[in-house]
Amino acid sequence: MPVYNLKINGQSHSVEADQDTPLLWILRDHLNMVGTKFGCGIGQCGACTIHVDGSANRSCLLQVSMVENMEITTIEGLSEDASHPVQQAWKEVDVPQCGYCQAGQMMSAAAFLQQNANPNKSEIRDAMSGNICRCASYNRIEEAVEVAAS
Ligand code: FES
Repeated sequence: MPVYNLKINGQSHSVEADQDTPLLWILRDHLNMVGTKFGCGIGQCGACTIHVDGSANRSCLLQVSMVENMEITTIEGLSEDASHPVQQAWKEVDVPQCGYCQAGQMMSAAAFLQQNANPNKSEIRDAMSGNICRCASYNRIEEAVEVAAS
């Protein structure tokens, strides 16, 4: 089986896996980084969102062979101590209900705010529309993105 060199949260990891193994599986099952969640496995829900070279991506759709030597960031690496403005805003607004989708929500929000530091409500709604929340915490998510941007 081939070995892939991955850069995750600033650290190098060598993993042995079939080339089409989803990055989500590598994170959770090979490296025990379980902050990134499995929701649908087909790119529809956003629960597995991580950053690749700073852009939000769905780790269930990325094959391990596609991301070798790219900068991968997971929720565990967004900040050292949950001090990223998005994480602070999520706490301030008390966003989560069940919490399952929230790592993906925060990763999408963080990547979005890198692109647009001062978004309006409609831009926030558009940017976050790919992340589904079964508890329908959408209003609080939008408010937290506004807080993080301020
Ligand atoms: Fe990847 Fe749903 S688990 S988008």
